Amino acid sequence: MSEKWTDVCAADDVKVGQCIAVQVDGEPVIVIRTAAGHFALEDQCTHDGAELNDGEVDGDSIVCARHGARFCVRTGAVLEPPAYEAVAVFPVKVENGRVLVRDARWD
Ligand code: FES
Repeated sequence: MSEKWTDVCAADDVKVGQCIAVQVDGEPVIVIRTAAGHFALEDQCTHDGAELNDGEVDGDSIVCARHGARFCVRTGAVLEPPAYEAVAVFPVKVENGRVLVRDARWD
């Protein structure tokens, strides 16, 4: 079990409606900020492997730039095809103005 949180960026490095690419233990992760806060997903579309950080944040979803699959930033669930599998989500917390992300996929 990994209880290790990784400091990935300053909270203000990501503006509302934007996203940035970071790494957590060498894994590509996208940090997304919506009006509801910060979220983190695996930075790889489940349709054909595109990086999601090239996509567009639209409310509580992100749209893959390659073929337009839409994923929920809270759950990683597919909201619109052509993807059919959810993207992994990572726990996020903001402390002292920093964004911390944990890879909990194998907990
Ligand atoms: S690679 Fe993302 S929709 Fe095709």
